Amino acid sequence: MKIISDIQDLRDQLRGQNRAVFVPTMGNLHEGHLSLMRLARQHGDPVIASIFVNRLQFGPNEDFDKYPRTFEADVEKLEKEGVYVLFAPTEKDLYPEPQEYRVEPPQNLGKILEGEFRPGFFQGVCTVVLKLFSCVQPKVAVFGKKDYQQLMVIRQMCRQLALPVDIVPAETVRADDGLALSSRNGYLSTEERQEAVQLIQTLKEIQEKVLQGKLTSADVLKIEQDACAKLSTRGWVPDYISVRKRNDLLSASDADLSSNQPLVVLAAAKLGKTRLIDNLEI
Ligand code: PAJ
Repeated sequence: MKIISDIQDLRDQLRGQNRAVFVPTMGNLHEGHLSLMRLARQHGDPVIASIFVNRLQFGPNEDFDKYPRTFEADVEKLEKEGVYVLFAPTEKDLYPEPQEYRVEPPQNLGKILEGEFRPGFFQGVCTVVLKLFSCVQPKVAVFGKKDYQQLMVIRQMCRQLALPVDIVPAETVRADDGLALSSRNGYLSTEERQEAVQLIQTLKEIQEKVLQGKLTSADVLKIEQDACAKLSTRGWVPDYISVRKRNDLLSASDADLSSNQPLVVLAAAKLGKTRLIDNLEI
């Protein structure tokens, strides 16, 4: 595997490749990331990964400085997955001057859910992903459903900007007890790690209730509020737990609910200092 940090070196290395599949990451790689590398291999060749902890997508009070950086272990894992090039730019490589041109996602998708609680987050994600796409020029890129809204935001960006990149979604990889793998799980204490499974448990309970059917939007609201209250009594601080339509992530109306529109329930909640997100399709 070649490890490249300079954009021009990357372009030289990838010249003439027109089936490249790209998997962007922020490193601290776990099985979730590695499953994306394996899926990538089924969608083209060669597989290009990137590791870049993108300052633009972190808020001023978020964990940019303490975000786990485990470069050597990551390299070893990517070698084993047969990744051809790891693009690992420094901040100077990717942002040699202040990044003043930014991609602003639309209000209706970019300012809800994660966008509401992490102002600027999707602008930072879109800007870096567009720039990484411009460096790598992949035919296909793989994104995890773990970050469901991010996947939708990127898809819509590609569509609206006519970027010639197909976005392939990857299923969420979970620990044995159901907790979605995440680099941030490493922040959890032993007790918090045991408690963390309650997030997906809560989503499963909501999934079951909604599947039992014949609910109005008022019923769904009550289910969401009860779920937040229950997590709160266990010591969580929920940002949101929300049932949404899969196609636009807007709330489901009574008509949507009675016509069995595909839904997804999304959640974000803090456990101690750690903010976890997860979702489940219904
Ligand atoms: P990061 O959190 O490192 O995630 C990189 C990719 O791995 C994303 O597409 C994410 O959805 C996927 N992923 C994370 N955990 C997963 C799991 N348990 N199962 C399946 N896929 C999982 O997401 C980012 O980085 C950044 O926002 C990035 C897109 C790289 C832009 O900076």
